[in-house]
Amino acid sequence: MAILPIIRMGHPVLRQLAEPVELPAKPEIRRLAVDMIETMVAAPGVGLAAPQIGQSLRMIVYQMPLARLQAQPDGDEPNAPMPPTVLINPVLRPLSDDQRYRPEGCLSIPGIRGEVPRYRHIAYSGYDLDGQEISGEAHDFHARVLQHEVDHLDGVLYLDRMVGMMSIGFLDAIPTEDDDEESEES
Ligand code: NI
Repeated sequence: MAILPIIRMGHPVLRQLAEPVELPAKPEIRRLAVDMIETMVAAPGVGLAAPQIGQSLRMIVYQMPLARLQAQPDGDEPNAPMPPTVLINPVLRPLSDDQRYRPEGCLSIPGIRGEVPRYRHIAYSGYDLDGQEISGEAHDFHARVLQHEVDHLDGVLYLDRMVGMMSIGFLDAIPTEDDDEESEES
């Protein structure tokens, strides 16, 4: 196990279309998944995509923090806590046109926040390391994290999704009542 360096905006790998992962995953990919989880937990973050550790592969890891189980002050539905999960070759599909703007941060753009519109309800599918299909539905924060991570696989950063720059700012300059927000980069 190893904590890997997270590459930051400006590195060309973050702008590449990542390659599908061959399944069942080879030992080096399994090691990479374990290292990605360790890196995400250490950051700390709620999600990490393989391009963020310099690997142009369609693999993401993510988790749902315990704080999201509580009623959200912004009116988003709570999300069940989820341990670190690997999703390979993921595909997302919106289940309604309903979108919300919420602050988002990225481990590859540290210390910055901006409001990004995302679909509230999505269906997701993909594979685990053994090549077994995984599918389900996600809402609000869970759906947002998945959309953020899958964007990384397509060379898209959340800044590209912002509709204007009015909400962008440094985390330590933005007034907030939510002390947990710092750990919600992905
Ligand atoms: Ni990110």
